[in-house]
Amino acid sequence: MQAQAMARVGEVEAWPLAHGMTFLNHGSFGSCPKPVLAEQARLRQLLEEQPVDFMVRRLEGMLDQSKETLAQFIGADSESLAFVSNATSGVNTVLRSLNFDPEDELLTTDHAYNACSNALGYVAERAGARIRVAPIPLPLKDPLEICEHIEKCISSRTRLLLVDHITSPTALVFPIKEVVARMRERGILTLVDGAHAPGMIDLNLRDLEADFYTGNCHKWLCAPKGAGFLHVHPEHRPIIRPLAISHGANATRQDRSRFTMEFDWTGTADPTAWLCVGTAIKWMAGQMPGGWKAIMQRNHTLVTQASEQLQSRLGYRCLAPDSMLGAMASVQIPDTNMPIPESTPLYSDSLQDKLWSEHQIEVPIVPWPHHPRRLLRISAQLYNQSSDYQKLIEVLEQHGPKPQ
Ligand SMILES: Cc1ncc(COP(=O)(O)O)c(C=O)c1O
Repeated sequence: MQAQAMARVGEVEAWPLAHGMTFLNHGSFGSCPKPVLAEQARLRQLLEEQPVDFMVRRLEGMLDQSKETLAQFIGADSESLAFVSNATSGVNTVLRSLNFDPEDELLTTDHAYNACSNALGYVAERAGARIRVAPIPLPLKDPLEICEHIEKCISSRTRLLLVDHITSPTALVFPIKEVVARMRERGILTLVDGAHAPGMIDLNLRDLEADFYTGNCHKWLCAPKGAGFLHVHPEHRPIIRPLAISHGANATRQDRSRFTMEFDWTGTADPTAWLCVGTAIKWMAGQMPGGWKAIMQRNHTLVTQASEQLQSRLGYRCLAPDSMLGAMASVQIPDTNMPIPESTPLYSDSLQDKLWSEHQIEVPIVPWPHHPRRLLRISAQLYNQSSDYQKLIEVLEQHGPKPQ
C-alpha cells in the first residue's frame, strides 16, 4: 500500500510535549493536553479554597457525574464502575478480593503485562494455587488462534483467566469478546486488563460481559495521570472491595451501594484526575471532525502505515495482520548483542537509550519473548505525523541493527 503522508491533527500547541523530540511512546505514558491539565488545576484550586466543602459536600456528586460520562463512553452502567488510580490497582483489587484454593488454577498468557502477572503470582502463592501461562506464539494470522491457544491450557480446575485486551509488548488487540464468551461457557471468571483500550478502540463493556474489566483513562483518553477504572459485573459487586478499606465499609446509607461508597472514598487523596475524564473525552472529540471514531481510525492508519514501512524498508517483521492492531504496533528487530540487563520493571534497551540520547527519538524496545530477542513498539496519537516515523526509519537505516 502506498503510504499517505499524515499531518498532525488539532491544536498541536495544546500538547505539553517538549519541542524538538520525536515522541513515539504514547502507549507507556501518554501526554495530557493542556486544556485538560487546566481543568485539573481549576479543580485543585477549588479543592484548596474550601477543602471540607469540596471533599464532604461536593465530591460525591462530581464523581457520579464523571462516572456517568465515562460509562457512556465505554458502554457501561455507572453503578458497575469504580474509579481506581490505574489498571495495576484494578487488577490487584479484583485478585485480592477473591479467595482461591490450592486446587485452583489461575490462567494467563505469555503476553500479559509484567506488573499484573506479578499480582496473579502473589495471590496464587498466598493461596497455594497454580498458575498456568498459555503461550501465544507469533506471528499470528487470525485472532481466533488466540482463543485456541488459551483453551489448550484450560483444565477442570481453571478458576480465572487474566487476559489483556490490548497487549503491551506485542501491541495486539485480542478478540476479547470471543475469549470472554468461551470462558463464560465453562464457568471460568474473566479479569480483562484493558489498560490501553479506552480511547484506542471502541468499547462496549455491557456487551462484553466480562466478570471484571479494568482500564486506564490516562493513556489513550488523555486524562491526567491517576485516572483508571474498574468495571465489575453486577453478580460480583458485593465481594469486590477496594485495596484500602475505609468509611464505606460500615456506612448505613441506603441510597448508595456499598460498592460505590467504598470505592468513592479510600482515604484522603487528590480526586481531580478522575474528575477530568469528561473534559478529556470532550476535548479530544473536538480535535477531529468525526470525533473519537475518526481519531481511532486515523491513529490506526498512521501506525499501520509506519509498521509496514519498518518491515519493507528495514526488514523488521510485523507480528500480525493490521486488523489485529489499534494505535500501536510492534515489530521484531534483530537480537541485541548486549548482556541481559539487571532485572528492572522499566527495562531499557541500549538501542532505546541511544535513539533518545543521540536522536531525541523516544520509542520503547522490549525483550520478547526473551532476551536477546526483542521488539520495537511504535504508537500513534494526534500529535504524531508521518514524518515522525520517517525520522525513526531513516535513523535506523543508518545506525540501526540489520537483519542477517
Ligand atoms: C497491558 C497493560 N496493563 C497494565 C498496565 C499498567 O498500567 P498502569 O501503570 O497505569 O497501572 C500497562 C501499562 O502500560 C499495560 O500496558
